[in-house]
Amino acid sequence: MPAMDTPQRYGTLTRALHWGVAALVVWQLTTATVTSLAEDSWLDELLWATHKPTGFSILVLMVLRLGWALVNHARRPASVSALARLGHIVLYALLLVIPSIALLRQYGSGRSFEPFGLPLMSGFESGKIEWLMAPANLLHGWLGWTLFVLALVHVLMAFHRRFSRKAEDVLPRMLDVPPRH
Ligand code: HEM
Ligand code: HEM
Repeated sequence: MPAMDTPQRYGTLTRALHWGVAALVVWQLTTATVTSLAEDSWLDELLWATHKPTGFSILVLMVLRLGWALVNHARRPASVSALARLGHIVLYALLLVIPSIALLRQYGSGRSFEPFGLPLMSGFESGKIEWLMAPANLLHGWLGWTLFVLALVHVLMAFHRRFSRKAEDVLPRMLDVPPRH
């Protein structure tokens, strides 16, 4: 079944989740960069409204992705090195933790949150819950920038492996491109 992973290649569902999350992460990088360089500019006003719903979508896709990765664990392609394996685990962890602590902060703020019109949090009047807000206040931005740097290293490694004669090309595992040789 092409949806399932095999030791040679990731299946269609793993690929769809990988490229879907990758596109949303690029979008988060854009909104975070604009807000940090040009806060309250017209561009920030336009883009920032999408940051929270996009982050929420990443979390939903990542929960599905984690479940699907566990289902496919025994048959997906083997990691090329212990470092690659660790890198992928850290990417999963960041993609789950960053939006989760942001949602806790959102809840703790007492403000309503309705991504795509979904009544997720109705908000309350009784004051903020500080301990729910503390983790994201401390870490959300820093972990976010760390994720972007790590994702960039990941992309550079994928292309390095594609073009280095000594390394194994892993791109055909995730994308329908002809093998290098
Ligand atoms: C994987 C998903 C996410 C990533 C990678 C991400 C990344 C970032 C980054 C890098 C910043 C710092 C921008 C700066 O330095 O000015 C930031 C800020 C912020 N994000 Fe996210 N975010 C994600 C999800 C979310 C979600 C789900 C919410 C809310 C529900 C959220 C709410 C905020 C808020 C309120 C700020 C401004 C305050 C702060 O810097 O902590 N983010 N985000
Ligand atoms: C141009 C952009 C990208 C390229 C060319 C790319 C390429 C690849 C390739 C070739 C693999 C398979 C590696 C192997 O099996 O050894 C892979 C896996 C992976 N990639 Fe990417 N990637 C890109 C963007 C991203 C982004 C933005 C993220 C997340 C922030 C990401 C997260 C992952 C993870 C966690 C895996 C492990 C397999 C899985 O469970 O999906 N990738 N990527």
